[in-house]
Amino acid sequence: MSGIRPTGFLHLGNYFGAIRNYVRMQEEFECFFMVADLHSLTTHPDTKELKSNVHRVLAENIACGLDPDKAAFYCQSHVYETSELYLHLNMLAYKGELEKTVTFKEKARQHPQNINAGLLTYPVLQAADILIHRASLVPVGKDQEQHLEMARTFANRFNHRYGDVFPEPMAFNYSQELVKVPSLDGTGKMSKSENQMATLYLADSDEMIRKKVMKAKTDSGPTTPGAEKPDYITNIFLLLRLVSTPDVLGKFESDYDNCSIRYGDLKKQLAEDMVNFIGPIREKVNAIMNDENYLKAVMEKGAAKARESSRATMALVREAVGLNYF
Ligand code: TRP
Repeated sequence: MSGIRPTGFLHLGNYFGAIRNYVRMQEEFECFFMVADLHSLTTHPDTKELKSNVHRVLAENIACGLDPDKAAFYCQSHVYETSELYLHLNMLAYKGELEKTVTFKEKARQHPQNINAGLLTYPVLQAADILIHRASLVPVGKDQEQHLEMARTFANRFNHRYGDVFPEPMAFNYSQELVKVPSLDGTGKMSKSENQMATLYLADSDEMIRKKVMKAKTDSGPTTPGAEKPDYITNIFLLLRLVSTPDVLGKFESDYDNCSIRYGDLKKQLAEDMVNFIGPIREKVNAIMNDENYLKAVMEKGAAKARESSRATMALVREAVGLNYF
């Protein structure tokens, strides 16, 4: 089970860091992937763009290979049972621990006018998202580890107080090290909010992709054979490894080693390989976004699967809590 906030455009880092994991998991496990539309209301109360943002997230993930016939792909707000479980878990979550959450403190700083209780209990709703399916594996990045630990805490408190209902959800990844996609300016990784010219989005036009890649930082090249690469050059090779053929990578590696590398050629090649990688995904996203009936059908099918699983869990929860006198 995992959740995706419907804010902003997906980039190459999301693709290699998260979506590729989902696409592999759907072949092996019973998966639930959820668009966290209710969570987005904690910081984005204005809903003018919500519908198109939700459609975009659905379309981008499907274009990247998430298959709504294999995994349940649904919207959080379509599964009312989650809100009921959230209420029960709220009784097991302490004000002090919620106030100490790193993401809460960060968001409270960013939105001092709107420090609402939904923001404070964001991790409780996230725990409900996971526990409503009694999920055990949650593919998430490092930034979500604290939320996941809180989900385990709430699950354990529930189990202790009312009897065993929930397994402990654990973070899950195929590779030991998460794939970090470096940004094009040589600093850090691609991200939604930082330097947009250093991040490649799945929605970028071919021209924009070329422009961004050609602006990537290089230098005048190595002067001694077998020299170590500076970070920003290592990053360009990392990107090449993600989207180019082994032949192309090998050629530029050996050009580097014998000091004959021409970074202009390297970037032109990388730009074309990026265009060939991102272009077809972008076109697919646009086609899916234009097909509202298809998107509706996806959401309906996902919601039906998610509701079935959620109803079964809530029957256990109500019984365990002692709400069984009707
Ligand atoms: N908080 C997550 C994020 O910011 C999104 C999310 C909501 C989520 N519910 C979830 C992730 C349940 C994993 C499981 O990315």
